[in-house]
Amino acid sequence: MPGFELIGSGHYVPGPPITNAALARVMDTSDEWIYQRSGIRQRHFAPEGVGASDMGVEAAKRALENANLEAKDVDYIVFATMTPDYIFPGSAALLGAKLGIPGVPALDIRQQCAAMLFGLQIIDGLVQSGAAKTILFVGAEAHAGFMPWTAWDVLMGESDRELTQEERDKANEHRALAVLFGDGAGALIFRATERDAGLRGMKLYSDGRFAELLYVPGGGFRTRPYWKEHHYGEQAYVPRMDGRELFRFAVTKLPRAAKDLLKEKDLTGDGVDVFIAHQANLRINEYIRDHLKVPREKMPMNIDRFGNTSAGTIPILVDELHRAGTLKKGQLNMMLALGAGVHWGCALVRW
Ligand code: ACO
Repeated sequence: MPGFELIGSGHYVPGPPITNAALARVMDTSDEWIYQRSGIRQRHFAPEGVGASDMGVEAAKRALENANLEAKDVDYIVFATMTPDYIFPGSAALLGAKLGIPGVPALDIRQQCAAMLFGLQIIDGLVQSGAAKTILFVGAEAHAGFMPWTAWDVLMGESDRELTQEERDKANEHRALAVLFGDGAGALIFRATERDAGLRGMKLYSDGRFAELLYVPGGGFRTRPYWKEHHYGEQAYVPRMDGRELFRFAVTKLPRAAKDLLKEKDLTGDGVDVFIAHQANLRINEYIRDHLKVPREKMPMNIDRFGNTSAGTIPILVDELHRAGTLKKGQLNMMLALGAGVHWGCALVRW
């Protein structure tokens, strides 16, 4: 049975890094509060007019170059984003067109921060069935469109005008959410192989009872029309998040899933070479690491530089580790993630 292996990776983040101090220009917050609670120092934001597919294309080009391939060598695209260019259609076909490979099947998945896990399962299915041999997986997000401030000029340091109290109040209302997210894209190219590589086990869960732990209240086809005039004033385009409950969910469900998977495979944490965790919050990952007794160096993190790029975090981290030579052929690595939905789980991948 064929497995799959990573043959190229790339990532792209837009614009200059936006520090915590810069966020304090548009909200009442501080580097100290953000760093202590989340481990984040900076993030990037997509400029007006730049969508997830645009960032995804840049990351994909870098991955193709890294793999020494041309776009036409790709025979399947899986694109994960919770911030698509349009409400519909999804961005996967746009990505294919922008890469110059119209006609190649392009699948959109919407598993938010848990997208990489679902992606691995899809990639495994595609290679096992023989439906595809060279698969481009892209996770990209343009969260800038849901940020609760309008004073982008002040945030970017292009203006030092005083904000009105209303502007500041509106941003403050969502400051616990707004400081966590950043924009960017990661692209990974997987190829079918007869080598002993690919998905080696998985624990995967979804529970829609908790959808409102993190969701966008405005828009959606349960109302007529799907966008109402009052939504703008209510900032219904900004996601609502129960941060405490999500934190609790992550630190209970993820160690449980990891322990169950290790037990099923008759392994301990020592048998795993690298733990690649979704980058939502440094504190969540430190908790998981301590709970599983994983040494610090076995769970690399980059949230300090990018914030939470949702579907982008694991592909961006994998790209950095792949290029640094940390991920080596034959290793057994574990990926862990939890995202809005709620979707969560972990996967063992033979590299
Ligand atoms: N700056 C300064 N103060 C703030 C900020 C901010 N950005 N945000 C909130 N505060 C204040 C609050 O107003 C509150 O003040 P009060 O006590 O005077 O009322 C105080 O700080 C504590 O606020 P909480 O919201 O209770 O803060 P908490 O300690 O729970 O931390 C946080 C918030 C960081 C969001 C945390 O709950 C968390 O990380 N949760 C997980 C969220 C997450 O990972 N989401 C994404 C996962 S799913 C996915 O990745 C798609």
